Amino acid sequence: MIDRKRIQEIACGYDKKNIKVGVLASHSALDAAEGAIEEGFKTILYCQKGREKTYVQYFKSRRVDGRLVRGVVDDYKVYGKFNELMNLKELEGMRRNNVLFIPNRSFTSYIKIDDIENDFDVPLVGSRNLLRSEERGGLKDYYWILEKAGLPFPKKIESPKDINKLAIIKLHHAKKKLERGFFTAASFREYKEKSGALLKQGVIEQESLDNARIEEYVIGPVFNLDFFYNPLEEELSKIELIGVDWRFESSLDGHVRLPAQQQLGLLGTTQEVPEYTVCGHNSATLRESLLENAFELAEKYVKATQEHYKPGIIGAFCLQTCVDKDLNFHIYDVAPRIGGGTNVHVAVGHPYGNALWRTNMSTGRRTSRMIRDAIEQDKLADIVT
Ligand SMILES: Nc1ncnc2c1ncn2[C@@H]1O[C@H](COP(=O)(O)OP(=O)(O)O)[C@@H](O)[C@H]1O
Ligand SMILES: [Mg+2]
Repeated sequence: MIDRKRIQEIACGYDKKNIKVGVLASHSALDAAEGAIEEGFKTILYCQKGREKTYVQYFKSRRVDGRLVRGVVDDYKVYGKFNELMNLKELEGMRRNNVLFIPNRSFTSYIKIDDIENDFDVPLVGSRNLLRSEERGGLKDYYWILEKAGLPFPKKIESPKDINKLAIIKLHHAKKKLERGFFTAASFREYKEKSGALLKQGVIEQESLDNARIEEYVIGPVFNLDFFYNPLEEELSKIELIGVDWRFESSLDGHVRLPAQQQLGLLGTTQEVPEYTVCGHNSATLRESLLENAFELAEKYVKATQEHYKPGIIGAFCLQTCVDKDLNFHIYDVAPRIGGGTNVHVAVGHPYGNALWRTNMSTGRRTSRMIRDAIEQDKLADIVT
């Protein structure tokens, strides 16, 4: 792990009048960029050829006498592959440009975690050491943290033979490298049947299946709680709820929209088992009496990260939850960084974030607001790792 002191020195040595907010051009990059622009920063997006147009063409900024009149992308780089940003020359360029980098899930998917921890010597706004906790199955992964924190998560089922109620089997898709090959089963027999069919179709591989996490399926709506931890706050709550989102998943949402007769028609076909590929998000709110419970989850998570992953979470994080019929939260995933659904609040904010900050407050904007506060209070060292 890069010594935090070194990163703090780099950040503190930056030209504070010319800070640029940098982000890998994918996932929630538009939210990060829009929020940075809103808080008065210039932006730089690190793109990959073949998937750069959203940033370099459609959301490219235009400034007239320095004043922004269109778009959110001031500057960009287009690499052949994302991981070319690890070249020493590129990292040096980022530091020369006073870049503060906001990590998102694409950053940790396309750049090796080892490289991020040891070689990406550019200040990250967030918690570098926590990024690895998102890799399911790792030694101190997010389930480990949830357990330490005493937080509720779906019960692990040790062996497929033990499946006796609806369970979800979590493994990678065989062909779509970064996607899921999840499926559900309510018994060992169903597990055998479904996994057999999926193996045959090439959707999953035996090795991933053998290492899959099997856990109880929580029946209830899904809420991604987009939280924020502000280490600079000294009087009021350091924890903020910026927004809540939920996902559109393909093909699952299509299955749900079919009448029963048509669903039954899928039995025995290659479309029988839905996939869980995220392809969009929507905004949501929580029943008001659940808000306090949601905050309690965040309080416990933050405390556990401060104990076990010093310095603990900084800035945005997302608790991905299901709520069961008795209104209990179950956390099935944790993003120790900006969530994937925060584009629902780009530019408009969210009822909770806006209510708190008396203006349109997205996760992207909140992150850059923290950067701005840190610069003004001479506390950049407190928000980078
Ligand atoms: N225990 C669970 N019970 C019910 N649904 C779940 C459970 N775990 C995951 N899911 C569903 O699967 C989707 C992806 O799960 P997640 O664990 O977040 O995978 P990933 O790590 O790929 O993001 C969620 O959006 C949710 O719909
Ligand atoms: Mg997830």
